[in-house]
Amino acid sequence: MKVLVTDPIADAGLDRLREAGFAVETAYEADEEALQTAVRDAVGLIVRSGTDVTAELLSAAEELVIVGRAGIGVDNIDIDAATEHGVIVANAPEGNVRAAAEHTVAMMFATARSIPQAHVRLNTGEWAKGEFLGTELNNKTLGIVGLGRVGQEVARRCGSLGMELVAYDPYIGAERANALGAELAELDAVLERADIATVHTPLTPETEGLIGEAELAKLDGGYLVNCARGGVVDEHALATAVEDGVLNGAALDVFADEPLSEDSPLLGVDNVVVTPHLGASTEAAQENVATSTADQIVAAVNDEPVMNA
Ligand code: NAD
Ligand code: MLT
Repeated sequence: MKVLVTDPIADAGLDRLREAGFAVETAYEADEEALQTAVRDAVGLIVRSGTDVTAELLSAAEELVIVGRAGIGVDNIDIDAATEHGVIVANAPEGNVRAAAEHTVAMMFATARSIPQAHVRLNTGEWAKGEFLGTELNNKTLGIVGLGRVGQEVARRCGSLGMELVAYDPYIGAERANALGAELAELDAVLERADIATVHTPLTPETEGLIGEAELAKLDGGYLVNCARGGVVDEHALATAVEDGVLNGAALDVFADEPLSEDSPLLGVDNVVVTPHLGASTEAAQENVATSTADQIVAAVNDEPVMNA
């Protein structure tokens, strides 16, 4: 029985599948036609964010039992089409949460202290000490948009950095937020109060474009961090807000179209820090999500209960 893996995952996950008797085939950076051919006889398909699991791909997958997402976001998988084909979709919701939270905090410091910009200047021989006057996180207000697993881990870390926490999440209760030291408020109020706003929602029809020009104007003088999903923040509006000085800066790990095009309005804007979707890229996180996804493939094919489906 074949498991097709179309985005790189940690060896520990591939080994676990082989130990369970599966033939593991990898097809990284394959085009749509090659993917459709490769998936035809696969019982399991494992992806990260680099593969779009479309209705067409699922139609070509004659033997498929399960799509495993070695990570959290399932916005790249056509869940309705999978359901129509009787294919289980399961993610790995825990394994990279701490890595994503740490990357978020790193990105806050990166933008508030202009670390990448100062690094580039010094590497090109300039001791530009007088040009970088940063912002301390201590005593500032953090606005958290989406107080789920990652948002909560960010809240814990930033609370201990001396930040005041205010959060917008229509699906969690005030008690839960208060237990984390955060106050719940409406989105506009969160952005108005925040010195730094950080996004931690999934990408859904409801969150697409949630933060546009009007919302960024409410964050006036602050910083915006997005290590959740591209598409939640309007990239053109964000680039303009930073260029025009409405925002002091921004730090982004995720983009509406990945890989990010060289033509993106975000590239080359002085106070915009970017990383190529590295939030989950730690050894520990990758091992966690790869093994958890492999376990779910094995369970599904053996007709056992699948966690996180
Ligand atoms: P989660 O499901 O635990 O939490 C998401 C939270 O968003 C929930 O509390 C939910 O109630 C809230 N939410 C949903 N719709 C909302 C809305 N309209 N307004 C405000 N809040 C809303 O998910 P998570 O594990 O915390 O992951 C959060 C995001 O981070 C996901 O998009 C995930 O894909 C992304 N992520 C990115 C990386 C990376 O590599 N950059 C790594 C891990 C996770
Ligand atoms: C996720 O949603 O888990 C992230 O996109 C991490 C990833 O797979 O790179």
